[in-house]
Amino acid sequence: MEVVDLTYEYMNFVSVCTHIDDQNEETDKIVRVREAWIKESMVKGLKVKVAVDDNGKPIGFAHCLPIELGTWGMSGKDLMTIPCLTRQYKRVYNREQGSGVGRALMKAVEAEAKKTKKGVAVLCYDNDFWFMPYAFFKKLGYKEVARQGNTVIVLKAWEKVDPPVMHKLNYKFKPTKGKVVVDVFWHPICSTSICEIQRVREVCAEYGDRVILNEYNCGVKDILEKHQTSRALFFNGKYKCWGYEAPRDGLRKEIEKALTQS
Ligand SMILES: CC(C)(COP(=O)(O)OP(=O)(O)OC[C@H]1O[C@@H](n2cnc3c(N)ncnc32)[C@H](O)[C@@H]1OP(=O)(O)O)[C@@H](O)C(=O)NCCC(=O)NCCS
Repeated sequence: MEVVDLTYEYMNFVSVCTHIDDQNEETDKIVRVREAWIKESMVKGLKVKVAVDDNGKPIGFAHCLPIELGTWGMSGKDLMTIPCLTRQYKRVYNREQGSGVGRALMKAVEAEAKKTKKGVAVLCYDNDFWFMPYAFFKKLGYKEVARQGNTVIVLKAWEKVDPPVMHKLNYKFKPTKGKVVVDVFWHPICSTSICEIQRVREVCAEYGDRVILNEYNCGVKDILEKHQTSRALFFNGKYKCWGYEAPRDGLRKEIEKALTQS
């Protein structure tokens, strides 16, 4: 296994977040949005590291995103962040551990960060296994510098640096009489978030002018910094999260409920 910089050959694997055997019409649209974000961000300084097995097959990847470009969940300076690091999704779902792929990707990220930054910061989650696991980063020498519930910022620094500050949602609902207002914060880095905004657009359109849809693209740094969130969904000011991508029927149910209360 080796870790290489992203080339066109591995773009699809990275854009579909490793789900290469699991593509359909909906994911094709998501991929186009995510791929455009990757390409635009690479021009500004994003690096993508890809783990490749001995047969040249991609088996994992990591994003190295300078914090100044705007990253998921935190703000700061002089740091590299990893908004996304993953092995092939089936390996993750099967809870396989100890492949060495995560460690190799992190080594490549840190080498990249050492060129221009004072350390690497990661927003991770103190859960039993899924989603940017805190225990993995801790094992690799990262230290907790901020926490809210099970959301943790960890840091490994080789020079003195201020730790990043965790985002705190800044959102104020503005009602419109007789209408359902749907406020969606989404980020083009994340397939789940892209899928969600696509479904929200589709479902809101079914209700015509009874629904007002306000979209906030948190891939735009000013919007991210102002609202301090990368993904959130509100129906008439009420927060709703399914964890996974919002299901169409669930969206309809929330809109119907809000319509009866408007
Ligand atoms: C985190 C991840 C890369 C680790 O994969 P891995 O194959 O275990 O990687 P490594 O073997 O290099 O891990 C290094 C060490 O950390 C340990 N480790 C990995 N995951 C761990 C966890 N959740 N808890 C505790 N230790 C963990 C490994 O067992 C290994 O220990 P060892 O050195 O004693 O063998 C993988 O589980 C993954 O991709 N998870 C999903 C991440 C995610 O949320 N991606 C989506 C982002 S948008």
